[in-house]
Amino acid sequence: MSIHRFLLCVCMVTATSAWLLAEEEPTVPNAYPAGPLGEVVRLGEQLVYETKDHPLSKPFVGNQLNCTSCHLDGGTHPDAGSFLQTAAAYPAWSPRENRVITLEDRVLNCFMRSQNGIRPPNGSQVSVAITTYITWLSTGSKIQMNEKKPLGPRHVPELEFDWSKANPVQGKEGYKTYCLDCHGQDGQGTADGPPVWGPQSYNDGAGLSRVPKLASWLKVGMPLDDPSLTKQEAADIAAYINRQQRPRFKLEEHLPKAERLGEYNFEPAQP
Ligand code: HEC
Ligand code: HEC
Repeated sequence: MSIHRFLLCVCMVTATSAWLLAEEEPTVPNAYPAGPLGEVVRLGEQLVYETKDHPLSKPFVGNQLNCTSCHLDGGTHPDAGSFLQTAAAYPAWSPRENRVITLEDRVLNCFMRSQNGIRPPNGSQVSVAITTYITWLSTGSKIQMNEKKPLGPRHVPELEFDWSKANPVQGKEGYKTYCLDCHGQDGQGTADGPPVWGPQSYNDGAGLSRVPKLASWLKVGMPLDDPSLTKQEAADIAAYINRQQRPRFKLEEHLPKAERLGEYNFEPAQP
């Protein structure tokens, strides 16, 4: 092919991928919906930031974390636990439940595991508000239900790495260098960062309790404001952190009483 044709091709390919990229880069919607729906979106946003303290969500939280502790910037971070486009993947197949689950079910699972708490009832105010907020963050995305896993298109992809090479002894040194200032000598947290192990952390049924998942998340999320670990460092530190003590997950201890598993969404109209 002539050099001109070749250059033309290169330009077209570059232009096309730039266009695809622009199309795929999701953004936070620039306005809340009107009326009560918008109020519920805002309530959900608040609950995502203040999960452990807000009176509606606090009874269901068993540690010192908020959703935003891992879903950075309230889930608007493009990489670390992003909620952008997430609703488009649901309902999705969940191998763990051996069932198709809804976005609401997925939210409630994070309460039981990552928040080490009790599953709020389906249809409860807290669960509806958070699900509404996450759905709002997917405004404009095309439905693309996930038939393999309950994960959205922007979930943290697992790093390619030989996990048998993750070295917790090295990880302890890495933790001291990069993490200790904010997360504390004994992992119990400081004013600058939440606990990463111990009784106030995520339990061993949470996604982050798996070394590959934690390492992949650290690679895009930590140290906060400067995620710069190498794959090896992320793997080593993840192996170190996940060797420490944390709450044990037993499903029965995280379910509400049977009669509280679901609520009918109804409120009498004001006279
Ligand atoms: C300790 C960290 C942590 C906390 C706290 C946490 N999550 Fe998660 N959550 C995760 C991880 C890890 C995943 C898997 C995401 C991935 O692989 O990208 C996840 C997945 C999810 C998903 C599915 C995302 C997708 O891509 O489909 C939703 C929805 C979700 N969490 C909601 C919540 C809500 C709501 C809260 C607060 C009540 C919460 N999470 C608290 C770590 C956490
Ligand atoms: C400048 C302070 C700072 C540094 C340094 C830092 N973090 Fe964090 N980290 C945070 C904050 C703050 C959050 C919660 C994010 C939020 O609420 O916005 C967090 C969240 C986390 C979480 C998820 C929530 C939890 O507590 O389980 C983990 C895991 C974590 N950091 C691990 C690390 C590791 C490992 C390092 C070192 C490689 C590190 N962080 C370095 C401040 C920091």
